[in-house]
Amino acid sequence: MREAGRINAEALDAAVVLIKPGVTTAELNAAFEAVQKRYKVFSPFKNYPGPYPYPASICTSVNDELVHGIPSKRKLEEGDIISIDAGTVYEGFVGDMAVTVAVGEVSPATQRLLKITKRALEIAIAQMVPGNSTGDVGYAVQTYVESQGLFITRTYTGHGVGREMHEGPQVPNYGKPGRGMKLREGMTIALEPMVLMGTPNTTVKPDQWTVASADGSLTAHFEHTVAITADGPQILTLL
Ligand code: MF3
Ligand code: CO
Repeated sequence: MREAGRINAEALDAAVVLIKPGVTTAELNAAFEAVQKRYKVFSPFKNYPGPYPYPASICTSVNDELVHGIPSKRKLEEGDIISIDAGTVYEGFVGDMAVTVAVGEVSPATQRLLKITKRALEIAIAQMVPGNSTGDVGYAVQTYVESQGLFITRTYTGHGVGREMHEGPQVPNYGKPGRGMKLREGMTIALEPMVLMGTPNTTVKPDQWTVASADGSLTAHFEHTVAITADGPQILTLL
C-alpha cells in the first residue's frame, strides 16, 4: 500500500505542477494517466460504478464543486481553486489521496479555506491511534472546522481502503467521542475532510457525478491514506 500511495502521489504531482490559468482539467487527467502508464498501474476511479461508470482516472472539482468533478475541456481561470482526487491500484492494493490547490492568486478568505481544510486532515491523522474510535476522528475534525466558522459535509465520508478503494469502516468528518468503530493496529483508512464555506449542504450537478455546495460557495478537500500502527499514524500516500 505504501508503494501504491507513493506512485499515486507522484502521478498526482505530475497533474498539480500543470495547474495554471488556461490549462484544462482533461489535461490534468492526461498527465496523471501518463505517469500511471509508465508504472503499469491504473486508477480505481476509472469505470467506478455510479449513475454511469466514472469516465476518468482522477476527479477534478473546481470552486463550488466539492468532490467527483469530471475532467473536461473546462479551462482553469486565475482565482479558481481546484481539488484533484486521485487513486492508484498497485499489485492489488489501493492508494487514495486528494489536494486542493489555488490557480494563481486567490483571496485571503480562499487561502484560509485551503489552510483550514489541510489542517483538518492533519488533525484527523493525529487521531489514528489504536484504541481511538472513528467517532473520535470525526469529533476532532468537526470541532476544529466549525470553530473556524466553516462547515463539514454530512453526506460524504472517509473510508477504509486496502484491496478495494472503498472498504469499511466509514469515517465521517463529524461525530461524537468514543462512537463508531474502534481503531486497531494494521487498519488503513482514507481520511478526507470536505469543507464548505456557506452551509453543510450539497447538491449533485446535471452530469450526475459532480457534487457541489448547495449555495454555490467555495469548498475544499484534502485526503491521505493512513495506516494505524503501534508507533502512531503513518501516511502511505507520500512522495
Ligand atoms: N477517491 C474518492 C474517495 O475519496 C472517490 C472517487 S469516486 C470515483 O472516496 F467514482 F471517481 F471513483
Ligand atoms: Co477517498
